[in-house]
Amino acid sequence: MSESEPEEQIESTNEQNESASLIDMHVTTATGTDASQARGQSVVEARDLDVHYGDEQALKSVQLDIYEQEVTAIIGPSGCGKSTFLRCINRMNDLVESASIDGKLRFRGTDMYGDKIDPVALRRHIGMVFQHPNPFPKSIYDNVAYGLRVQGRTVTDEIVADALKRAALWDEVNDQLHTSALNLSGGQQQRLCIARAIAVDPDVLLMDEPASALDPIATSKIEDLIKELASEYTVIIVTHNMQQAARISDRTAVFLTGGELVEVDDTATIFNDPNDQRVEDYITGKFG
Ligand SMILES: Nc1ncnc2c1ncn2[C@@H]1O[C@H](COP(=O)(O)OP(=O)(O)OP(=O)(O)O)[C@@H](O)[C@H]1O
Ligand SMILES: [Mg+2]
Repeated sequence: MSESEPEEQIESTNEQNESASLIDMHVTTATGTDASQARGQSVVEARDLDVHYGDEQALKSVQLDIYEQEVTAIIGPSGCGKSTFLRCINRMNDLVESASIDGKLRFRGTDMYGDKIDPVALRRHIGMVFQHPNPFPKSIYDNVAYGLRVQGRTVTDEIVADALKRAALWDEVNDQLHTSALNLSGGQQQRLCIARAIAVDPDVLLMDEPASALDPIATSKIEDLIKELASEYTVIIVTHNMQQAARISDRTAVFLTGGELVEVDDTATIFNDPNDQRVEDYITGKFG
């Protein structure tokens, strides 16, 4: 999957339609509730989710609830379907010709794959950050403003500054907002990508190994940021780094080879007292 796809998706359309309002209705209802009540509600529900690429099964009957304002970590060996699962949640697998998806995936109670759902409208509520920082070859300011402009929304200096502050980047870039984003370090670029994703105020933030290309200091900044973001967003993060999953997540889902979700529980339980022997073997490094 190419790193440029998010841009293509955002650009594909910005029209409101019936399915957009269907999604919007649910989001408005959820964000209108008191934050303390909202926490604990499920935002995304996977039921019997199967994904095939051609004849090859990548996810097998996955049942998983993702809860409001929690960080859910998805861990498991390479090829077990972690990225596939994330890509189902913002319908990026629609772009993979050989992919077929069965079962149910609901976003705030609405069938994400229902006939009337427009994936572009859905993606406005479900932002994504990739393994390799992929800023556009534009200024820092224009990167942050990009999604708002595409959606036809007003861009103000305050909104851009606020997104950069929430992404813990403002102090480092406020005197160079109109210089190229490509001049930033990798860690700064990744925080810029997070600022770009949160500037449009999504409901859910998907992160596929967002720190794996970064050095330990940049990684630690991203981890702190993810913990901060969880007070406002529902975060789903794929990581190969078990310590990272243990440090930043509330719940952990363990996928194993064959695309099976083997166990999901509070992160402390998964790391200290898992039920499934295969999970214990995986997290103690016996395989994977
Ligand atoms: N676009 C694609 N076309 C065909 N097969 C694919 C495609 N993307 C993934 N797969 C296959 O689906 C399975 C799951 O892949 P996926 O990328 O979801 O794994 P992953 O857990 O994210 O792995 P990693 O930790 O290496 O990123 C693998 O067998 C992979 O080869
Ligand atoms: Mg992956």
